[in-house]
Amino acid sequence: MLIWEKPKSAMLLEVKDLQSYYGLSHVLQGVSLAVYSGEIVGLLGRNGMGKSTTLKSIMGMVQPKSGSVHFQNQEIAGQEPYRIARAGIGYVPEERRIFSNLTVMENLMMGVKPGDGQKKDGWTLSKLYHHFPFMKDRPAQKGSHLSGGEQQMLSIARALMGNPKLLLVDEPTEGLAPLMVREVREVLSKINQEGVSILIVEHNLQVALSLADRVYLMGKGTIGFTGSVQELKAQPHVQEQYLSI
Ligand SMILES: Nc1ncnc2c1ncn2[C@@H]1O[C@H](COP(=O)(O)OP(=O)(O)OP(=O)(O)O)[C@@H](O)[C@H]1O
Ligand SMILES: [Mg+2]
Repeated sequence: MLIWEKPKSAMLLEVKDLQSYYGLSHVLQGVSLAVYSGEIVGLLGRNGMGKSTTLKSIMGMVQPKSGSVHFQNQEIAGQEPYRIARAGIGYVPEERRIFSNLTVMENLMMGVKPGDGQKKDGWTLSKLYHHFPFMKDRPAQKGSHLSGGEQQMLSIARALMGNPKLLLVDEPTEGLAPLMVREVREVLSKINQEGVSILIVEHNLQVALSLADRVYLMGKGTIGFTGSVQELKAQPHVQEQYLSI
């Protein structure tokens, strides 16, 4: 039997027993997970299980009723989203909320955090252009004139402008053509190689399993399975139970 070996790197994010509601609806019923420095971790599961709500609760966009969110050993649960962003977490929402009437460059600048402008080891424009060449060629193009894939890239790039240690990415390949799916997958892998840890929600199992080191599978409001990608692949019945395959 395969046993998941705890990564040797430091724990970056630790979520413990998170409980979140929408009104009276008890959506997160004790979610616990961790991301270690350098990892890509997949959060997977069927529709409506609470994956996006988990990311939103970590990011402070949904206020958790109880539980803890430790990021770099600091409690951030219940803080305002801008404070959580400043602590070093970037968020790429499901809906790719780029500003459609702003240009590529203006969108990127919206991601800059106060005081980060002079950071030498941060995500400079030239480093971004290396990973997203179309932005160098078309900085003045309006967001609304970008393809779906380019909008997704811009949403990711804008989050990187905040120099996050951890990126929360919600369904980055949803609705994209196969070629663009591959490009988004590739760019996330390269960002990770640049030292950014990633917690990704992704329906495309092939993308998720080729990117992730470890996965958490959600049942309704709770984590039902956790393990390495190899462990998941070795257990088809677990995939059947928790994933739409
Ligand atoms: N703003 C909201 N108000 C009320 N209920 C909500 C809201 N957002 C989500 N829900 C409900 O909470 C539950 C979890 O939703 P969530 O979006 O977190 O699921 P998900 O796992 O991300 O699903 P999907 O794969 O479809 O994106 C669902 O039952 C959903 O209908
Ligand atoms: Mg979702």
